[in-house]
Amino acid sequence: MEDIEHIPKELKLIDAKGIRLDGRRADELRPIKIEAGVLKKADGSAYLEWGNNKVLAAVYGPREAHPRHLQDPAKALVQCRYNMAPFSVTDRKRPGPDRRSVEISKVISEAFSAVVFVEQFPRTSVDVYIEVLQADAGTRCAGLTAASVALADAGIPMRDLVTSCASGKIGGVVALDLNKDEDNFGEADCPMAIVPRTGEIVLLQMDGHLTAAEFDEAMELSIGAAKQIYELQRDALRRRFASVAEAAQREAEREPPREEPPREMPPEMPEDLPPEVDDL
Ligand code: CDP
Repeated sequence: MEDIEHIPKELKLIDAKGIRLDGRRADELRPIKIEAGVLKKADGSAYLEWGNNKVLAAVYGPREAHPRHLQDPAKALVQCRYNMAPFSVTDRKRPGPDRRSVEISKVISEAFSAVVFVEQFPRTSVDVYIEVLQADAGTRCAGLTAASVALADAGIPMRDLVTSCASGKIGGVVALDLNKDEDNFGEADCPMAIVPRTGEIVLLQMDGHLTAAEFDEAMELSIGAAKQIYELQRDALRRRFASVAEAAQREAEREPPREEPPREMPPEMPEDLPPEVDDL
């Protein structure tokens, strides 16, 4: 059982002034930091902190899909594996896939399949790994947002980045980006992912109950926040490619290696040597 003893029975998640337990207003995001290109061995990678969530994403591909019977002759597969580290939550999480991680992996794979130009890479697989190092609710949104940056870092052709965020209801108020206590004791949580350039929704889930009006309000909050998160994703990629360009520039400016002096060639041997005295 998780340690929730510290939480009073009558928990007020949002006060009369509209301030939440962590000091945010209803429409405020937790602080987000994104860094692209953090792993040398992966084709693309990103590290993201979102409030108390810490997530690492790595991308490989497009590469030959294995096992081969999974290959699609018409397009690439986008295969995501979402995993929570055993130390990512208060109680040790049993290692390995469970129903929840299989579900999250599936919905994230589907979200990316909508933006990657899969027709360009038949029979291949684009493999996306999301490792949650520390969890505090909203990890599928954090993982998806990080993986999207990792896909771009890997140079996978995509229509756009995918940006994800959740909104829900706490203490009767529709609020953006619920943290762990709000997720546990609130009334609803509704994660979504959007293609910012087109406005297409590529992931939408709901845990709990919202009226139609509350749902519209929650979506409005998430869509507004997605614009801010999209800018953070783009900014991480700009910083990444500025540093790649700088490294290439330094390499180009490095002094060329000193030229070796031409080696002296041995004198040419006459083709028909006169017979040696001993040979006669
Ligand atoms: O993380 P996300 O909100 O996308 O998914 P969730 O299924 O709504 O989980 C909410 C939170 O519950 C996670 O972020 C973790 O902090 C916590 N959790 C946990 O403590 N132990 C688990 N086995 C699964 C989730």
